[in-house]
Amino acid sequence: MAERKAYLDLGNGQPPIELPIYSATMGPDVIDIRSLGKHGVFTYDPGFMSTASCNSSITYIDGDAGILLYRGYPIEQLAEHADFMEVCYLLLNGELPTGSQRHDFDNTLRKVSMVHDQINNFFRGFRRDAHPMASMVGVVGALSAFYHDSFDIADPRHREISAFRMLAKVPTIAAMSYKYNIGQPFVYPQNRLGYVENFMHMMFATPCEEYVANPVLVRALERIFILHADHEQNASTSTVRLAGSSGANPFACIAAGIASLWGPAHGGANEAVLKMLEEIGDVSNIPDVIARAKDKSNPFRLMGFGHRVYKNFDPRANLMRKTCHEVLNELGMQDDRLFKTALELERIALEDPYFIEKKLYPNVDFYSGIVLRAIGIPVNMFTAIFAISRTIGWISQWSEMIADPEQRIGRPRQLYCGAEQREFVPIGKR
Ligand code: SDX
Repeated sequence: MAERKAYLDLGNGQPPIELPIYSATMGPDVIDIRSLGKHGVFTYDPGFMSTASCNSSITYIDGDAGILLYRGYPIEQLAEHADFMEVCYLLLNGELPTGSQRHDFDNTLRKVSMVHDQINNFFRGFRRDAHPMASMVGVVGALSAFYHDSFDIADPRHREISAFRMLAKVPTIAAMSYKYNIGQPFVYPQNRLGYVENFMHMMFATPCEEYVANPVLVRALERIFILHADHEQNASTSTVRLAGSSGANPFACIAAGIASLWGPAHGGANEAVLKMLEEIGDVSNIPDVIARAKDKSNPFRLMGFGHRVYKNFDPRANLMRKTCHEVLNELGMQDDRLFKTALELERIALEDPYFIEKKLYPNVDFYSGIVLRAIGIPVNMFTAIFAISRTIGWISQWSEMIADPEQRIGRPRQLYCGAEQREFVPIGKR
């Protein structure tokens, strides 16, 4: 309930408008502006820099302090001590699972990781060089055509069934997108394998040769999945919420989230980081890149730097940097050219007054791309990996919204700057 009130004086001689203020468990309080419309004014906030679109108890970020909590647990502790199944259970249900709860959750996912065999045919319509995110948007959306038995989104059991199906099938579809790209046959999921190992098996096994994943690489990929699992109301999560607010089925909503994540300013950044590092090539080219990033007339941005919320450091980037060292050491790639370029770019950028003044620190994508490349994941699959990880965040946020009695269909207003009303002119008189 509101404890305090804000007063808005519109300068029109009318009494100030009284607006309730709600307190957060952690972080900024919010001003409830829902009544403003009836006073004939809207707020204006392109990009939602200062706008809370919902209440949520799933994830909390303190951008200045570099804090990221999933259901109250610090990301550093989860990345160190939990596995991805525990994190998925936590995000979806609000509490860490007991041993038996984790076992049942994991077991259920394993049993529904295969896709309907008709799904294989969808890929035949794509060009072989289709970007994996293009096929994922299409195929995940097409799941809506298969699972009519769990479409009653008001039924918590249906929401749970859809959640399990999506969590289990998105990795399978991502691996199918990759196999189709390279002209290899699809590899079916194996119920004997854990979530991350199963994905790697579907990616790298072939009918001609068994694939046994390196446990260091499995743990590194699992850490990437944990670090990218959820992140408050980022662009793709807000897309899922907005799509879901109309009552659209969950598979269509997740497909919308995948589409939004694909953008280079969001989930596409890890792919863009690698392309940027490849273009830089040698560390001697870094000064020119830094100059381009600082040039206001140049649209070039330093991929992997900056964040809407983290203005001191992205705690995930610190953990990813550590994972980077572990993987490159395990693979004997300490002298990896791209990693050395990345470290030099990070060093220079963090000393440059422009980046310090604008608080542009390396974000999670700066290092995750290098780790994924070292694991053997092709660059065009990087955002698909992000999508696999973020599916649990999207589903948890979608489910929280559907269960929220306050939720309404999302329908922002606008500041109209167009023509005033005018009369139609017949074409012969124009
Ligand atoms: C993710 O929202 C999330 O939580 C996202 C994410 C998640 O987990 O869901 O964390 C995942 O998307 C991480 C971000 C990955 N994107 C990139 O690495 C792309 C490069 N970064 C930029 O595009 C940018 O920093 C954003 C999009 C991340 C943040 O943009 P903002 O908050 O809208 O900031 P801005 O664009 O207004 O920039 C502020 C200033 C500007 O200069 P001025 O106009 O004030 O003079 O900083 C400059 C920008 O020009 N700036 C950069 C820069 N990022 C911002 N200059 C050079 N290089 C950059 N990377």
